[in-house]
Amino acid sequence: MEALLNPAVIVQHLHTTRFGWTLYFFPALDSTNEYAKKLALQGIEEGTLILTDFQTQGKGRRGRSFFSPHGGLYLSLILCPSLSPKAILPLTLLAGVAVAQSIQRCTGLSVRLRWPNDLFLAQKKVGGILIEMLVRETEKVVCIVGIGVNINTPLSSFPAALRSQITSLAHVLRRSVSRELLVCHLLSELEIYYHRFLQEGLSPFVEIWKTLAFQIGTMVRLSVGGEVVEGILQGLDAEGRLVIKQGKQLRTIVSGEYL
Ligand code: BTN
Repeated sequence: MEALLNPAVIVQHLHTTRFGWTLYFFPALDSTNEYAKKLALQGIEEGTLILTDFQTQGKGRRGRSFFSPHGGLYLSLILCPSLSPKAILPLTLLAGVAVAQSIQRCTGLSVRLRWPNDLFLAQKKVGGILIEMLVRETEKVVCIVGIGVNINTPLSSFPAALRSQITSLAHVLRRSVSRELLVCHLLSELEIYYHRFLQEGLSPFVEIWKTLAFQIGTMVRLSVGGEVVEGILQGLDAEGRLVIKQGKQLRTIVSGEYL
């Protein structure tokens, strides 16, 4: 089995200003996002990182579970931006860009982003992002950025029914990847992008996201409020909504599910 994550290696290689310097590591947790929420209610500082080797109740978007066996990367980062919940939502897209770029730097692999929160590699899901928010007594919004990536996870660790839909970095690379160094790269990218986002909003990231998008320029199918919507994937608008082309018309999608 994959060796446990070593937080000391993370501390040794961390080059961020704040992100990750307060670090909670657990060999196992129900969900790093759930733990982060408990901490956040106690008034924890921005940039606090919760990391685990294994989740028993990893959570995905829309109440789904996120299967989290040993070998993966499961983390939650606590942020306290002075923004409304609606303005915080594009952080999912930003986090996706940071994950894809840090994986590219560490491994050379091209992870692609599927709106709004999926990470794809070699046409299969390799991870996802789950942003949750809560409002503290001070009325300040606390944002939990949850990131899960299948790094050194053998596909045999996943239930048989999932195996045809998912992959891991090690499965594609045929070698293992240092999760500690990847965390350090990721936190550095995320910290820079987060501050840029606070100052400039999403616009600097719209084009970058597009270069990393899964199935850009191809026909996609989504379920949007019960309706099946098809179109050629164009990219994002300035607010982070998905833009597809139907005939000569552009259509913007606020919330939907890929089919
Ligand atoms: C998705 O694919 O729908 C999102 C998956 C997000 C998984 C991560 S793993 C770390 C953090 N803790 C959780 O329980 N979920 C997120």
